[in-house]
Amino acid sequence: MKLILLGPPGAGKGTQAQMLMEKFSIPQISTGDILRSAVKNATPMGVKAREYMDAGALVPDDVVVGIVRERLQQADCANGFILDGFPRTVPQADALKDTLSELSLELDAVISLEVDTEALVARLTGRRTCSTCGKGYHVDFDPPSKEGVCDACGGNLVQRDDDREETIRKRLEVYREQTAPLVDYYLRGGLLAEVDGMAGIDEVGRQILSVLGAR
Ligand code: AP5
Ligand code: MG
Ligand code: ZN
Repeated sequence: MKLILLGPPGAGKGTQAQMLMEKFSIPQISTGDILRSAVKNATPMGVKAREYMDAGALVPDDVVVGIVRERLQQADCANGFILDGFPRTVPQADALKDTLSELSLELDAVISLEVDTEALVARLTGRRTCSTCGKGYHVDFDPPSKEGVCDACGGNLVQRDDDREETIRKRLEVYREQTAPLVDYYLRGGLLAEVDGMAGIDEVGRQILSVLGAR
């Protein structure tokens, strides 16, 4: 299964990718996670990317295209992958098309998760992530059994640096301007499957699986 999860910040891309990864035993490729790990390790790429991420802006196309190109060539991607948060601009989508054709890989579907703006803000302000294993939670919609502690590994739950309200608004604006055109891009390519992302986490997961089964 070779998939793209498309959707605004907070739509549930990472949440649903965790489910799909287990279901199909394929890797999740989250450019956001890869960039955050580079920031944490203060690599040259991370130092450069940090400024853009803290401002809620997109990291330059050549940087993320390079990351994904390299990742897709690894052996574990041959049977499938979930692209989470990439592509995010038309030039990124064009670059992905070229890379996939060089590797003789073909996408099965682009899942577009649709969620209202106010719900996105509520999801992002309440999001918590395990600092050890990366598992995601929400203080109201998906709480851990013990506040601040990861159910899976006992790690500390933390808030992302870019989940402050003013940065969230900026990220949503960047999505509308630079990423939303990809909905039409993949609709024209016949790959788009729209899923109502406003339902609960499990229900959204069921809808995604049903859309994929229908293909
Ligand atoms: P990235 O990490 O990709 O962030 P994003 O796109 O802003 O998306 P999020 O991770 O915030 O949301 P999500 O859809 O994964 O939601 P989640 O499942 O966590 O990118 C971060 C930054 O990196 C960018 O701003 C940019 O600077 C840079 N970057 C990354 N990729 C790039 C690229 N390709 N090009 C250029 N720059 C790039 O869910 C959110 C919360 O809601 C959680 O708490 C969850 O528990 C909860 N939730 C999920 N589903 C539901 C539901 N159905 N009902 C109720 N609550 C729910
Ligand atoms: Mg995410
Ligand atoms: Zn954990």
